[in-house]
Amino acid sequence: MSTYVESLSWRYAAKKYDTGRKISDADLNTIKEAVRLSASSYGLQPYKVVIVENPEIREKLKAVGYGQPQITDASHLFIFANEANVGEASVDKYITNISETRGVPAEALAGFSDMMKGVIGGLSDDAKNTWTAKQTYIALGNLLSAAAELKIDASPMEGFNAASFNEILGFDKLGLNAAVIAAVGYRHDEDDAQHFKKVRKSQEELFITL
Ligand SMILES: Cc1cc2nc3c(=O)[nH]c(=O)nc-3n(C[C@H](O)[C@H](O)[C@H](O)COP(=O)(O)O)c2cc1C
Repeated sequence: MSTYVESLSWRYAAKKYDTGRKISDADLNTIKEAVRLSASSYGLQPYKVVIVENPEIREKLKAVGYGQPQITDASHLFIFANEANVGEASVDKYITNISETRGVPAEALAGFSDMMKGVIGGLSDDAKNTWTAKQTYIALGNLLSAAAELKIDASPMEGFNAASFNEILGFDKLGLNAAVIAAVGYRHDEDDAQHFKKVRKSQEELFITL
């Protein structure tokens, strides 16, 4: 078995965290890089990732997160917030980034820019929100894998009230929407869930090879 698959077998969605253990700055940086390097449609990365350390804010979030203790007890809380109404400004910023990073004049990217603006402009507000939210899950997946490689625990969570999260975090003003969150830290010795056998579909059931 590859060490990568071993790491994925080791990981589980921790339910109880050791509140006394914090992840190091170096490990936090590795996880941030894994998130930053995530693939996204067109490369647009239409989201922000908010890392909440502040205990008071985390208490408030837990109250609207079905009281899930991971929200307050893990070392760090990542919130993947998609752009609620992605538009031309995001495309323009991205085009500037490509131009500067690759030393390509922005005019040479006009076709790409127009294409993205055309596709995005043709989406309803709901479709835009769904599309940008989907992109955050790719980043979430990278976080889970990177944390597992570092033997750091992580808990992906959708069990929270997004509207309340948005209000507490001031996302409405920023045009952001809390799509999915992940608590990151170290499992508690007494977290029973770490002993549960992993339940997954077999390869035969999961894959269709044509
Ligand atoms: C997008 C997503 C949302 C999830 N939301 C929650 C949640 O709100 N609370 C929770 O305890 N677990 C949550 N989970 C954890 C899953 O239940 C868990 O990943 C699944 O049962 C597989 O088990 P494992 O990750 O421990 O291997 C979520 C997982 C994902 C990927």
